[in-house]
Amino acid sequence: MIKIITKTPQELEYLGKRLAQFLQPGDFLALDGDLGAGKTLLTQGIAQGLEVKEDINSPTFTIIHEYQSGRLPLYHMDVYRLKQPEELYDLGYEEYFYGQGVTVVEWAQIVASLLPDEYLGMEIAVVPEGRELRFAPFGSRYEHMIEELTGCDYSKYR
Ligand SMILES: Nc1ncnc2c1ncn2[C@@H]1O[C@H](COP(=O)(O)OP(=O)(O)O)[C@@H](O)[C@H]1O
Ligand SMILES: [Mg+2]
Repeated sequence: MIKIITKTPQELEYLGKRLAQFLQPGDFLALDGDLGAGKTLLTQGIAQGLEVKEDINSPTFTIIHEYQSGRLPLYHMDVYRLKQPEELYDLGYEEYFYGQGVTVVEWAQIVASLLPDEYLGMEIAVVPEGRELRFAPFGSRYEHMIEELTGCDYSKYR
């Protein structure tokens, strides 16, 4: 598995900013990690990289925030409060999951059964040095994306 350690919040945010450079319409990022791990911070970096003008706040209560001011639409979801994945149906989630923007889902494992076939999974773990990001790409597009991002040859990690 390809992993990166970020030692400061700024480093994690910057990683998101760099990741955003590779994003295209329809891309899907599934974030996991404990409360306070840095999922929202990473999303803030992604938003910066997409040149979203608004401030990015956690959509914990509304489940989804949509930003249209950047290079691509950004759909930022936090599904922590869902009791069942099926509650996503009421939110018209397919419009986001299969839309022309970039979808970022915090606590994605909660809706694992509804995730698309191809996506970039990222788990953020709290480690003594800071935060460890563990990449789990599903689909060759995302394998290439993390190769570009990290400079690692993904075939060595399969
Ligand atoms: N090395 C680090 N990388 C990322 N965040 C860190 C780090 N050290 C401390 N933090 C703090 O952890 C918090 C992460 O919060 P947040 O992004 O809201 O987490 P989540 O969305 O996963 O619940 C921020 O307050 C951030 O400043
Ligand atoms: Mg959060």
